[in-house]
Amino acid sequence: MTTTMAPAPLGLDVDVMELEVQVPPGKLLTYDLRALASSLEILDTSCMAVETDGLTRALVTIYRDPPLEKLEPVRGEDLVIDAQGWLTVGRYHDGQPAQIRLYVPGSGAQRGALFGTTGAGKSRALQLILAAEKRSGIVSWLADLKGGQSVPEAAGQVDWRVTTQEGLLAMLQAAVRVAEERMRRYAAMGRSSFIINRPDPLLSVRIDEANRALEKGAPYRDKVAALIKELGRTGRSVGVGISIAAQASHVDELGGSDTLRGMLKEGETILLRWSSSMMQSLVSDGLLPPGTHIVPIPKRSGPPLLRSRFASARGMVKPKPGGNTGGMAYLLGSDRPTAMMRFFPVGSMHEVEGLDPLILDLYGPGEPAHLEATSHEAAGAAYLTRDGDGPAHLVEAAKEETKRLAEQAAAEQKNASTGKATVAARIVRALEDADEDEDGQQALDFDELFAAVNADGGKPVGAPVLRNNLTALAKADRLVALGAGRYTLPS
Ligand SMILES: Nc1ncnc2c1ncn2[C@@H]1O[C@H](COP(=O)(O)OP(=O)(O)OP(=O)(O)O)[C@@H](O)[C@H]1O
Ligand SMILES: [Mg+2]
Repeated sequence: MTTTMAPAPLGLDVDVMELEVQVPPGKLLTYDLRALASSLEILDTSCMAVETDGLTRALVTIYRDPPLEKLEPVRGEDLVIDAQGWLTVGRYHDGQPAQIRLYVPGSGAQRGALFGTTGAGKSRALQLILAAEKRSGIVSWLADLKGGQSVPEAAGQVDWRVTTQEGLLAMLQAAVRVAEERMRRYAAMGRSSFIINRPDPLLSVRIDEANRALEKGAPYRDKVAALIKELGRTGRSVGVGISIAAQASHVDELGGSDTLRGMLKEGETILLRWSSSMMQSLVSDGLLPPGTHIVPIPKRSGPPLLRSRFASARGMVKPKPGGNTGGMAYLLGSDRPTAMMRFFPVGSMHEVEGLDPLILDLYGPGEPAHLEATSHEAAGAAYLTRDGDGPAHLVEAAKEETKRLAEQAAAEQKNASTGKATVAARIVRALEDADEDEDGQQALDFDELFAAVNADGGKPVGAPVLRNNLTALAKADRLVALGAGRYTLPS
């Protein structure tokens, strides 16, 4: 059996070729990526990089081999921000260092978001950044909403780690209070911006799997969104940053309304492998200029294959399998938003049992930086007892406060949604919330529905209105009438 690679583009006998393209003044540069690849005889789009200035010019780079297949692993010692707050997290396709900014002197903390479909490399990129924060003396607060499974190595390497939605609420609330406390102190010092480590460290709040807290149906969605928005608004100039990592197909899914849109526009938005609806929403939300095409990141690199059923019988080509594209991304907030980059590989590329020693090495030895003592009181009991220990009265106070916060958030959310909800939506909700009967069915009769809908905190609903809505729902197949006057939801 022979093995061949895809033919080099344009019969390239050099490793790399660059084309500078410009359209005449008055025209806008647009292109069809597939047509471009076809005209350049490129089978594997990972061998092509197209960067545009969003107007008239483009730089097309064609590689003989995909440029980001193999990146050198990063050394822990190199994971430190420079005086301008920049951190090198990987390389662009042309080998240049790809940098993100964790701190802007004269301005303050950054806001950011890391988007990507499942397996795109969000959590690995996050660990790289967390390790850099540790090595740079930045205080990291982390919410790992996959119950701590997403970035398990971060335990003990960050100042505060929570793994539940309630923990996230407590953490965000504490961060808002620290920001307020710093604001008071800085105002008294006559200071208008944050200066790192003089006297306070940068505080960076990061949420992995943020979609779990911000998607429809999340228990404290409104409150979490409001707190993130608040931090995005007030945190920057007092050195409290907020970033999320999320799987989302639409920005609107994340907390609804305009919560994140403003934050993302100004922050460090990093786009790992995306879904097509995500791309549409990024353009429609103005996060990407219209007409901007960025070369898609395939799930695996390598040309798509047409495999003839007769090929092996003829002893022909065994195609080379493509590689994993985890960690490939675009730094939309950078000065090269259309240049594909890749994060340095982080951790073992094969499954490891338990914590990954390579990731632990990245964090390095020693304690992470902690929040300044002057803000401890503001951070509150949940922070002070974050490792699950501390004086009994504080542990108790932290539990109480978190419980109250969660109950309040859940109640506000219910009220807000019931206030605006239609009677039909309230009927559906009542059926969704109904207990199962002995047949395992969630069903209610008219009287039970009448009682449930009128007990949900919304406006009173009269029997005729309820009856009309039941009829309309049944007609629209959104409700099933069982025998004996009972109703249930279609399965
Ligand atoms: N920078 C990288 N270089 C090479 N491979 C990478 C890189 N980052 C991630 N990968 C590969 O992609 C896989 C998935 O990465 P990761 O767990 O970070 O994805 P994720 O986006 O967090 O996924 P999920 O949505 O399932 O949480 C890793 O196990 C690794 O094999
Ligand atoms: Mg993950």
